[in-house]
Amino acid sequence: AAGKAIPVALLGASGDLAKKKTFPALFGLFRNGHIAPTTRIIGYSRTKIDRPDYLKRISQYIKNTSDPQVKAMLDRFLDQSTYVSGLYDQDSGFQQLEHELKRVEQETGAQDRLLYMALPPSVFIPVATGLKRNCYTTKGINRLIVEKPFGMDLESSRVLSKALAALYREDEIYRIDHYLGKEMVKNIMILRFSNQIFRSCWDKDHISNVQITFKEKIGTEGRGGYFDEFGIVRDVMQNHLFQILSLIAMETPASLNAEDIRNAKVDVLRAIPEVIESEVLLGQYGRSEDGTLPSYLDDETVPKGSKQATFAAAAFHINNPRWSGVPFVLKCGKALNQQKVEIRIQFKDMGEGLFHKNDMARNELVIRVQPDEAVYLKMTQKLPGLGMETVMSELDLSYASRFTNLSVPDAYENLILDAILGEQSNFVRSDELDEAWRIFTPVLHKIDRGLVPVETYPYGSRGPEKVADFIARFGFERHQQEYSWPETSQT
Ligand code: BG6
Repeated sequence: AAGKAIPVALLGASGDLAKKKTFPALFGLFRNGHIAPTTRIIGYSRTKIDRPDYLKRISQYIKNTSDPQVKAMLDRFLDQSTYVSGLYDQDSGFQQLEHELKRVEQETGAQDRLLYMALPPSVFIPVATGLKRNCYTTKGINRLIVEKPFGMDLESSRVLSKALAALYREDEIYRIDHYLGKEMVKNIMILRFSNQIFRSCWDKDHISNVQITFKEKIGTEGRGGYFDEFGIVRDVMQNHLFQILSLIAMETPASLNAEDIRNAKVDVLRAIPEVIESEVLLGQYGRSEDGTLPSYLDDETVPKGSKQATFAAAAFHINNPRWSGVPFVLKCGKALNQQKVEIRIQFKDMGEGLFHKNDMARNELVIRVQPDEAVYLKMTQKLPGLGMETVMSELDLSYASRFTNLSVPDAYENLILDAILGEQSNFVRSDELDEAWRIFTPVLHKIDRGLVPVETYPYGSRGPEKVADFIARFGFERHQQEYSWPETSQT
């Protein structure tokens, strides 16, 4: 059943993030009865538009509105949504917002507030300040959601954290990394800590290497301005992939309590030395081989001659008894041949014995984060028939065929609901952020100064040619036998 009514002040309401993610997720929660029917969304941004115009904009990414039931719910939701236009650095706008918050609180009896900052970093602190000064309730709990980028490096992130800490307590701050809201990322803890077979082989004695891969088919199309300032390492690896790494590598938390989970994550991060330049491979996409798809530099929003990386692979080492000697290789890129995010845990060789090494490929546990959520374990079996030949096969849990009546919720729905309920385990704590920046900052500074080579790769390819050698260097072995996961079983 839906919880208490809570007004959501959505700052940056006319921006892309609010339109594409936040508002649709709020509507999804409302439509499925996960939040109170009296939930009010108050948009706030600099854009001077009237309410009908705002409602039109904010609902443009809502899906399935041709279904009359969805349409009716949407109309109701929009009816409860209002808009205040104001500046980000002046009190008058925030005072108007406060007025609107008070009005809806009177109407609904709500006491707590969700202040959601879907904003560019440049206005981050002024808005957090304006909200604290003018829109901070003393009647209930204030929860502030903030979105990345959380700085550019260790120093700027600390400046930001310090400024924020002067305004809000850590238990009021909800830093979003939307990968923590993904079904399969949430599944990592359950897989690891509620299955004896995984619990007992999750270490350097059994695992050879871990690969975490993020591939997107599209380039930066139209987002080049933002992207070029940050690059793929800051955009995806330092946050999304590193969160996955922490969950795969952390020790068992003392409990499911948010602080215990985040303590375990911080502990494992503290055991990771800074990434070094010789263990980083960078790439930038050029035109596709047939010349039809544009290069990164063809994107008009990208500064001319930019050397920014759109692909990165890097190796990480964890100096603790569980993982010493097991490389974690993270790869991410845009404009590649496939669209997928997966975690691949490659086990060690069996060693010669009854069967020849070439007849036994390494076991691999693959967690397919998206699309087509799946967990499968690659293993060697007998090829059916009269002989004793081996074949690579798999134990396969494909969500679409196994959980036919269940749908996988959207990451933002998961996280916004958590924030409304005051559940912080899937949000990034400031010390966690600090550790992640510590690991990346030295190499990022070198990358920024152009000291790390950037290979070109064709749009639609597997990335720079050197990538196969790079992952082989860290112990990843391709199967000798022909094998591909039967994705066709997916619906
Ligand atoms: C965002 C990055 O945080 O995550 C984007 O800024 C990236 O560049 C996106 O495309 C990927 O998220 P998802 O949920 O589509 O995998």
